[in-house]
Amino acid sequence: MRMKRVILVTGTPCIGKTTTAKALAEKLNAHYINLTEFAKTYNLILGEDKQRKSTIIDEQKMRQKLTQTINSINNQNIVIDGHYAAAIVPTRSVTHVFVLRRNPQELKAFMEKSGYSQNKLQENLQAEILDVCLTEAIEAHASKVYELDITGKTTQEVIVDIMDVLNMNKKCSVGIVDWIGTLEREGILDEYLKT
Ligand SMILES: Nc1ncnc2c1ncn2[C@@H]1O[C@H](COP(=O)(O)OP(=O)(O)OP(=O)(O)O)[C@@H](O)[C@H]1O
Ligand SMILES: [Mg+2]
Repeated sequence: MRMKRVILVTGTPCIGKTTTAKALAEKLNAHYINLTEFAKTYNLILGEDKQRKSTIIDEQKMRQKLTQTINSINNQNIVIDGHYAAAIVPTRSVTHVFVLRRNPQELKAFMEKSGYSQNKLQENLQAEILDVCLTEAIEAHASKVYELDITGKTTQEVIVDIMDVLNMNKKCSVGIVDWIGTLEREGILDEYLKT
């Protein structure tokens, strides 16, 4: 039997994880898990962080439930979508981690279109600029991490890049973007990093 792949799709909020992960799951005929939905379905929410307007997850319970779910699926690849996927899915279960990256100028436009508050927008842009998701992914999954710059790409183009990695046609490394340098060259870094 072919090895079951457990593929994480992670990245800063609003970067395009769900759009990409759903398309990938369809392409691979894989089981799709969205961690936000998963937490709701299995009642893994401890409460609300009112200040940050986000939910607090019972991480231990979520790890247990994820392990159980992953182990119960035998003949299908699994695609897991979530911005904290790399921190929460047990390392031994994971085969690939795709960290999606988007130029902060484009990400800002996406967030504005999606109606993000000024605070959330600033917080998430800074997380993208400072490689927060990438760092988290490398800490937990090291050589399984593939960083993809999806700026200006259609979903189908992103899927082609991911399939190239999965089929081992393309090596993909980390450290491929430098948003600090990019914004600095444009003379707008301060604008993005101010609090
Ligand atoms: N390749 C793309 N080209 C253009 N727009 C895109 C692309 N991918 C996603 N989008 C748009 O960007 C927005 C965010 O996408 P999506 O919901 O997939 O992001 P996400 O990372 O899952 O967000 P969240 O962290 O809130 O779950 C949506 O409006 C989506 O339609
Ligand atoms: Mg999403």
